[in-house]
Amino acid sequence: MTGSSVLVLGIETSCDETAASVVARDADGRGTIRSNVVLSQIDDHAAFGGVVPEIAARAHVEALDRVVQAAMDEAGVGFADLDAVAATAGPGLIGGVIVGLTTAKALALAAGKPLVAVNHLEGHALTARLTDGVAFPYLLLLVSGGHTQILLVRGIGEYERWGTTIDDALGEAFDKTAKLLGLPYPGGPAVERAASRGNPDRFALPRPMAGRPGCDFSFSGLKTALRVEAEAVAPLSDADVDDLCAAFQRTVTAVVRDRVGHALDRFRSEFPDITEPVLVVAGGVAANKALRAGLDAELSARGFRLIAPPHALCTDNGAMIAWAGAERLALDMVDDLSAPARPRWPLDQLAAPMIGSGQKGAKA
Ligand code: KG4
Ligand code: ZN
Repeated sequence: MTGSSVLVLGIETSCDETAASVVARDADGRGTIRSNVVLSQIDDHAAFGGVVPEIAARAHVEALDRVVQAAMDEAGVGFADLDAVAATAGPGLIGGVIVGLTTAKALALAAGKPLVAVNHLEGHALTARLTDGVAFPYLLLLVSGGHTQILLVRGIGEYERWGTTIDDALGEAFDKTAKLLGLPYPGGPAVERAASRGNPDRFALPRPMAGRPGCDFSFSGLKTALRVEAEAVAPLSDADVDDLCAAFQRTVTAVVRDRVGHALDRFRSEFPDITEPVLVVAGGVAANKALRAGLDAELSARGFRLIAPPHALCTDNGAMIAWAGAERLALDMVDDLSAPARPRWPLDQLAAPMIGSGQKGAKA
């Protein structure tokens, strides 16, 4: 069922981006982004080397009204034109989630529109349907500062978590590596730049979980191994930092390839009739070129297509929330105004709880 054409405002405030967007979804399920306003708080948190929840919540309160207004203005619509108001209701830093969800409830009530309480992870999971019209089922690799998961996306609201990190998220591992080596926050881009100059063969790092069955990840042992190597050669020269980053990046790429490889095999055996299987990659770490190249190689060797939405739609944004809201609205999956803000909210309710999964914590 596709439903009729809808126009949805989406609000995202679960971490350090204050974002709002208006998205249209036509009766055939095609989406159009009418506006997508993202205000990053990176500068507010940089001095602390990670996201500080109290600072984030206050910054969302200060910015959200004008971000929403900017999204409405850019789309050229008024609240009466909307078919629904969607907001991230979790998982995430609870102060920020409450700011966005409460604002969405107030707007929905005032305009007499339905509310859609969206799971942030569902927003990431469905973005590839907005950008590329990907059909169900498909695999999602979500690699951000707060999440590292491999999900089977069967349909709207139908997710199976096949793998997750048992400790740090991959983006967090990049950020902690950067901090350890004296590189600026956010660490991912800084580590990638340093790695491009470094020699990946100089330091041998362990590849946690690689070769083990299943699709789970672990990065905390790698962080410790990196610290030991760094301490052994300290004080660090620029070349040492470059080499350590190159080793780190090559190691995490190998680990991700290994874990994803298992998911591809499992997908093949569960869906032998799907001729053009797809893996979608999302989250800020998806910007990493070495990781993307590694994934590309792994997928093409196994006959899978890699879909990576444009960077601005891989990182946190309002369009993914508006789109998830539109997909839900088309199926009449709306929420009432008592919908709770949830710090933890795994997409796959049946998956065993795992430390570090299903929640975006402070990255410091
Ligand atoms: O999805 P995102 O913008 O925010 C959330 O965490 O939800 O992801 C941010 C994370 C940070 O940990 C950042 O260091 C990492 O993505 N990142 C990268 C790169 N660009 C951003 N990691 C590796 N390489 C990059 N080029
Ligand atoms: Zn996210």
